Amino acid sequence: MSALIGLQCHLCKALCPTTAVYVCDKCLGPLEPLYDYDSIKLTRDEIAARPKNLWRYRELLPITGEPLTGFHSGFTPLVRCDRLAARLGLGELYVKDDSVNHPTLSYKDRVVSVAATRAKELGFDVLACASTGNLANSVSAHAARLGMECSVFIPDNLEAGKLLGSAIFGPTILAIAGNYDDVNRLCTQVADRYGWGFVNINLRAYYAEGAKTLGFEVVEQLGWRYPRHLVSPVAGGTLLPRIARGFRELARIGLVAGELPRIHAAQAAGCAPVVRALEAGLDHPEPVKPDTIAKSIAIGNPADGYQVIQTVRATGGSGSAVGDTQIVEAIRLLAETEGIFTEPAGGTTLAATIDLVRRGVIRKDESVVVCVTGNGYKTAEVVTDRLAEPVRLGRAFKEFEAWWESRRALA
Ligand SMILES: Cc1ncc(COP(=O)(O)O)c(C=O)c1O
Ligand SMILES: [Zn+2]
Repeated sequence: MSALIGLQCHLCKALCPTTAVYVCDKCLGPLEPLYDYDSIKLTRDEIAARPKNLWRYRELLPITGEPLTGFHSGFTPLVRCDRLAARLGLGELYVKDDSVNHPTLSYKDRVVSVAATRAKELGFDVLACASTGNLANSVSAHAARLGMECSVFIPDNLEAGKLLGSAIFGPTILAIAGNYDDVNRLCTQVADRYGWGFVNINLRAYYAEGAKTLGFEVVEQLGWRYPRHLVSPVAGGTLLPRIARGFRELARIGLVAGELPRIHAAQAAGCAPVVRALEAGLDHPEPVKPDTIAKSIAIGNPADGYQVIQTVRATGGSGSAVGDTQIVEAIRLLAETEGIFTEPAGGTTLAATIDLVRRGVIRKDESVVVCVTGNGYKTAEVVTDRLAEPVRLGRAFKEFEAWWESRRALA
């Protein structure tokens, strides 16, 4: 059973009931679930014996009944990357690989598993979202699985793979002429007016909790310890602060001890409001107009920007903004050294890690976890022009032999 008590305002600490409210009615601050931690008596062995999905931490998730979807979501691989580590001059490097999350190949399957379950508990018929692509894919798939009606709102310039990844599940897709921030503004009005269950608007307090499970898993998969550093991409700012929240909660219930990891924020230079705010010493990001190939993280006005900045500072982390060329190079490096194909969000995170190592923020003898949150098969267009063409030959053995011998002669 969940130990959920209520929703608490992050700013003024007022308590609200666990309904579909998304801001504090006293100060408009963001709400987060509050749990009775003392009632949670979980052991490492108990967790280890449970199915390998995100519900293995269900006592710390904000549902009141049984999970309804996400039975194969989460518990993605934590891959030790020695070849990549050697290239970066690091000793202990891991990729938390949500590019293979089930069923839609991004970290969003975590947050949607929780939000969709809660939406059903609260009696919503329509599941909806404002999305840069991956969230729409995940909402579409989980709604299909639950037999819910589904509407997803996206900017009208998304990659073909992102569009396909929603369309196949049969939702209503609303492609809006504008960027994500425009889409989000529209959706806030729709949520108010029509009462649909927008996972990242009126269900946001529940949705965001799903992201904690990435942090829980990293600790468990490292043998119940913290890494020294973790690098997370930042778009709306859901993931990064919830990883920290997950790390703290595991300590609170006695499953891990030690110094919290330093958590670093990775953004594309063409959309880096949080990194710029960190550099300028601001508490709130100044909104920017996105211009980057990393479309899934192109959010110019992050809803949880304040929490990201607080978390990075509190853990002694840093920000790094990387250019589109560095992002594509990092996508290729990860693929060629470790066999992991990520989309630009993961390229951004790896390129930021490389930058942090170069700047001496991450030292060579310290352990690092890099969060790879999306899959490269959805964004083929960012790399296709830059890859080697196949060798084209006729069917005759002679042709193969001539090619092979000529290649050998060149070597
Ligand atoms: C692949 C991928 N990674 C990371 C993010 C970051 O999201 P947020 O900062 O909103 O948690 C997104 C969000 O849209 C995404 O699609
Ligand atoms: Zn408040």
